[in-house]
Amino acid sequence: MSLCRNLFFQTRPINPLLTPRILPFQRVISYCPTAGTSDSNLLDSDDDRCISSNNVKRKGSYSWNGKKDKRKKTWVCNQCGATTGQWFGICKACRAMNTMVEFKEALEENNGKVSGFKVSEAAVRSWFKEAGASVPSSLADVSKGMNQSEWRITLPGLVGMEISRVLGGGVVPGSLILVGGDPGVGKSTLLLQISALLSEGFCGSNSGRILYVSGEESIDQIGNRADRLNITTADIFLYSSTDIEDIMDNIQVLSPQALIVDSIQTVYLRGVSGSAGSIMQVKECTSALLRFAKQTNIPVFLIGHVTKTGDIAGPRMLEHIVDTVLYMEGESSTSYRLLRSVKNRFGSTDELGVFEMSNTGLQAVLNPSEMFLSEAVSGSDISVGLAIAVIVDGSRTFVLEIQALCLTGSTTTKQCNGIDSARSSLIIAVLMKQAGLKLQDNAIFLNVVSGFKMIETAGDLAIAAAICSSFLEFPIPNDVAFIGEIGLAGELRTVPRLEKRISTISKLGYKKCVIPKSSEKQIASLNLDITILGCRNLNEVIDNIFQMD
Ligand code: TYD
Ligand code: MG
Repeated sequence: MSLCRNLFFQTRPINPLLTPRILPFQRVISYCPTAGTSDSNLLDSDDDRCISSNNVKRKGSYSWNGKKDKRKKTWVCNQCGATTGQWFGICKACRAMNTMVEFKEALEENNGKVSGFKVSEAAVRSWFKEAGASVPSSLADVSKGMNQSEWRITLPGLVGMEISRVLGGGVVPGSLILVGGDPGVGKSTLLLQISALLSEGFCGSNSGRILYVSGEESIDQIGNRADRLNITTADIFLYSSTDIEDIMDNIQVLSPQALIVDSIQTVYLRGVSGSAGSIMQVKECTSALLRFAKQTNIPVFLIGHVTKTGDIAGPRMLEHIVDTVLYMEGESSTSYRLLRSVKNRFGSTDELGVFEMSNTGLQAVLNPSEMFLSEAVSGSDISVGLAIAVIVDGSRTFVLEIQALCLTGSTTTKQCNGIDSARSSLIIAVLMKQAGLKLQDNAIFLNVVSGFKMIETAGDLAIAAAICSSFLEFPIPNDVAFIGEIGLAGELRTVPRLEKRISTISKLGYKKCVIPKSSEKQIASLNLDITILGCRNLNEVIDNIFQMD
């Protein structure tokens, strides 16, 4: 270390203006002898003004042997993956602030350069087909009227049907599927269940071997989980490793029909800079697995961690590399789990899988429409401060219970749970101005039962109705539902997929539905056992619902 330091000071002239700082400077600057980490090779331990001074950082850094480090430096945005030749405070591509991270190419033993592409290519080379160079093929030769249902690997059972629906009809051979979600939401459980379903789905063929590679848990821990899930098949093989090359080499004897990697943030490629989970490692490992999937036609599932903001950790380009991105959502306080497709090269993203986490893993929810209704609604006839909203998420309809509590003399002004705060402020303002409700002296608490996050504006009318009900202390009968968006003039606006919403609540036994007047024509042809009440604005709703007969 001292040799390095001497070399450094011999080759770098010191700015005379900084001479009073030499002592602390010598104390704080030290070399990080490891090449190939994503951070700069210079470490400061005390004062960052020293490290950013002209003398040191701007004129380039030095490698551990004291020679000038000639490795090419780039700055990569850790949000969108955009690359630039210099550092910017704001990413030019996605405008995110302070997201540019410095990268240096890794050094080979002979100090030659090595590219991430070559490393990831080498890792999977043993799997490549022996066939000669590929040539362009005619579309007529490639697509031979393939039957989609035969082409895809279907997953049996109710859970399998739910997962297949989200994937667009089944697992596509050779596809790379990324499953993200909060810690503990049930990603590993889902993937272990998918492994069991895949091995069943393959049962017609000779071998339905599925390989589950975990870098997070030991094989005993996965075995315990499998016991809990009552998975007994001998076709699932467990392997605990984090080295992609080791995984590729060791699984060859097995010739699996599907590969599961738990998680992409724990695996690494030798020769690529950075530790496991760093932007470069995640990108190159995913690229290697993509090449593996495409060359072998074996579907690969990856589990991805998410960041605090809910995005999959690692470069944004990760989502561009893979074929399908699924997010698993759910509150830790509830047992419901939603599997949502946000990108799918082989199907629609308008799909949602609904599950319940039970003692024996994830179970499919057959009738999700009513799963967010509380017992208060189904048990009693009338309740104060409760209104029913009908929300469409993906292709599913959900009936939600909105609760409001207006309290005079409280120090809090407003608190929302499951409702966008800005949207609720707008609705409260419209109720005050256009419907004449004197809400200004009230603290208003709003809640969506069961932890569902309501984003759709179709729930506006139900929020307003719940507030009116609590403020006026006037209960709403529990067989009335509210659908509609509220405009600033207090008018009710039409919402999409009204027929779908109304037929769902009609099937659930609701007797009356308040909708915008302008939408009445749309549903005139529906022959349903439900009374439709069309209203032009909030005043009409209040006159019709909150008046004694
Ligand atoms: P896990 O799949 O380990 O989550 P992740 O991989 O997303 O971190 O699931 C962890 C949670 O799921 C844990 O809180 C326990 C719960 N769980 C059940 O409720 N029932 C089960 O049968 C299993 C296997 C897990
Ligand atoms: Mg896990």
